[in-house]
Amino acid sequence: MNQNLHVIITGASSGIGEATARVFFAAGHRLVLASRRTELLEQLAQELDPSGTRVLVVPCDVRQTSQLEALIQMAHTKFGAVQVLVNNAGVDSGIEAWWDAPAEAIDLVLETNTTAPFRLSRLVLPEMLSSKHGHIINIGSVAGQIAVSSLYSASKFALRGMSLSLRRELLGTGVHVSLVSPGYIRTPMTQAAQGSGLPMAEPVVVAKAILGLLERPRAEVIVPWWYGILIGLERQLPFIGDKIVQAKP
Ligand SMILES: NC(=O)c1ccc[n+]([C@@H]2O[C@H](COP(=O)([O-])OP(=O)(O)OC[C@H]3O[C@@H](n4cnc5c(N)ncnc54)[C@H](OP(=O)(O)O)[C@@H]3O)[C@@H](O)[C@H]2O)c1
Repeated sequence: MNQNLHVIITGASSGIGEATARVFFAAGHRLVLASRRTELLEQLAQELDPSGTRVLVVPCDVRQTSQLEALIQMAHTKFGAVQVLVNNAGVDSGIEAWWDAPAEAIDLVLETNTTAPFRLSRLVLPEMLSSKHGHIINIGSVAGQIAVSSLYSASKFALRGMSLSLRRELLGTGVHVSLVSPGYIRTPMTQAAQGSGLPMAEPVVVAKAILGLLERPRAEVIVPWWYGILIGLERQLPFIGDKIVQAKP
């Protein structure tokens, strides 16, 4: 397996991003960890790499284009060309009815989950294409295949469309594009649903799936695998989903 790749992970301060940082560091890669809660990133970096030779922390709000540009600049200065970009930072809408919420709630979800991966990919792609080497890995969701929550699902359906299309557009260039679509995972994002009896995989399961893509690039990976059955059911028998939603207390 390739080691010592230069990898940027957005949203590395908790959940899937943090687990991905741990798994990628153990595999020997050089990491740039980006998010807003820098103190959490610093703690993680200190634990993984006290010497600071293989981990760089960059404070970054992915909704701010200037901060994305600074992130790429700092990553470049420390480790050279970016070889792997993991677009993981994301938010759930956290609201039942977006039509009753301030209009900014719409921007928050779409800018974080969809626009930022476009913007960051735009910043790394020219160099990846000229070196004929690179991998963009987008973290989507099963909610990008099964419509469950209009705002969040819209952001992840769009990201899925971007990821699958970009992969096709770049076939033969040496740059891979993959989408990882997790089901329910035990992270701070799903805290409210924890204890409800819903089965939840640990974030390390997703992290290992992301790492596995470096060895075997694929268009899309669904984790845990059995969500693939639910997606198939949704395609063939969508009325079952309607019934489940209507039966919700
Ligand atoms: N947990 C699940 O069941 C599940 C299922 C499917 C998909 N996903 C996706 O997996 C990804 C990771 O989510 P998670 O479950 O690990 O949730 P999480 O623990 O809440 O992590 C979300 C991460 O995104 C970062 N983030 C949010 N807004 C940001 C912003 N404006 N700028 C920079 N970073 C930002 C957060 O960092 P800061 O707050 O430090 O900025 C945090 O590190 C998301 O894209 C999510 O949609 C999760």
